[in-house]
Amino acid sequence: MADYRAGFRSADTEHDAVDLPVEGALPEWLSGALVRNGPGKFEAGEPGSGERFAHWFDGLALLRRFGFDDGSVELTTRFLRTEELRAVVEEGRLGAGQFGTGAGGSLLARLKHSVSPASTDNANVNVMRAGGDFLALTEVPTQVAFDPETLATEGRWAFDDDLDPHVACAHPVTDPETGATFNLSVRFGRRPEYVLTRLPEGRTSREVVARVALSEPVYVHSFALTPEHVVVAACPLVIDLWGLLRPGGHDTFLDALDWRPERPTRFVVVSRDSGDVVAAPTAPAFFTFHHANAFRRGDRLVVDLVAFEDAGVVDSLALDDLRAGSVRTIDGDLRRYSVPLDGGRATHEPVATGGLSLPRFDERRRGKPYRHVYATRTGGPGDAPNHLVGVDCWTGDTRVWGEPETFCGEPVFVPEPGGGEADGVVLSVVLDADRERSFLLVLDAATFEERARAWAPDVLPFDFHGQFYPSDSSRS
Ligand SMILES: [Fe+2]
Repeated sequence: MADYRAGFRSADTEHDAVDLPVEGALPEWLSGALVRNGPGKFEAGEPGSGERFAHWFDGLALLRRFGFDDGSVELTTRFLRTEELRAVVEEGRLGAGQFGTGAGGSLLARLKHSVSPASTDNANVNVMRAGGDFLALTEVPTQVAFDPETLATEGRWAFDDDLDPHVACAHPVTDPETGATFNLSVRFGRRPEYVLTRLPEGRTSREVVARVALSEPVYVHSFALTPEHVVVAACPLVIDLWGLLRPGGHDTFLDALDWRPERPTRFVVVSRDSGDVVAAPTAPAFFTFHHANAFRRGDRLVVDLVAFEDAGVVDSLALDDLRAGSVRTIDGDLRRYSVPLDGGRATHEPVATGGLSLPRFDERRRGKPYRHVYATRTGGPGDAPNHLVGVDCWTGDTRVWGEPETFCGEPVFVPEPGGGEADGVVLSVVLDADRERSFLLVLDAATFEERARAWAPDVLPFDFHGQFYPSDSSRS
């Protein structure tokens, strides 16, 4: 098996607008920047020494920017200058407790005082725009602003409102019709609740769309949006809140997650208009990180997502396991759920099975009937994601890209201006394990033929999520 582990090593350099050599030809219309976020440093002190983060999700945020202009591409990478980074670099210690790495009582502190300076600012999961600002995000509501050209850190950033959630999804979703960005957060306390918010385009103050009381909070990573509804697959991965808060309880958020497969997964459907839960049908338990698209078909919602049989994938991303060569449970299926709005159970059919992760699609089709999903795929059990697939949801056909000894990141679709749903390119950061270098792969979205690859100077650690910002997306 090819060795993907270089992708879990710390980056030891930053890059400053480095022109990348290109094989093939970039489309002339491709203009703008792919900005990605993910972990880039995994231990205090020198790489390979010192205290280490226990979980991949906890590595220190490294922003990466591929800027496209006139057939060329340049790369900038920059660590977020956070308290977490300062603690690691200057003091040689791990900072505030995070997802799967304990740090004494600091998680308790984070939950109780989630917006206090004690909460982690290692915003390493995704990026978004709010008002004229660009923000790095994680699953606690601490946003860090950065310069979209240089990636220089501008500091902690707060919404201009009084909402005070304890955890939030790092997958905000923008309505392509209104430009408003929706997100889902959780407030704990005596009566835990999900809070669904809407951030109008160009604004920095959120409006509450809905508050949904919870008898028991479950871990939610993402959701889907249609013109009328927000829909969340609430899986029975229960957050043991009491175990987190009591002295001597769980050390990390990861330890507090309890998979309860005897319970169903519930599709919670919220009206964007009234804020009411209009349906909550169940399906036999499954786990999901990532919803793809959803849309209405008569009296049902069609909800596409990558489903796992259980929540073992969460534990399997512990760094020691990954470095030991164990990625066996990154094995999702793309499923199409049919979610009734007027009673009955949710049912599903498989769209593509085996080893899928990180689904994306043409954001212009969000909430509408659509055809194509892009995802990573493993070569088989025990393998890391070393293929990219384009799935035609109408026919079930897949188009595949893969090469020996390469490992692929989340595929981002960029539409050709004026083109249809599959007219454009798919961008993915790929590790060539043999050459110990990463490259940006540019595929024709319709055929999955390679159009170009641009070689980075070295290995870019595996990342999580990113967004493409066309060159006309100005700061204000
Ligand atoms: Fe995610």
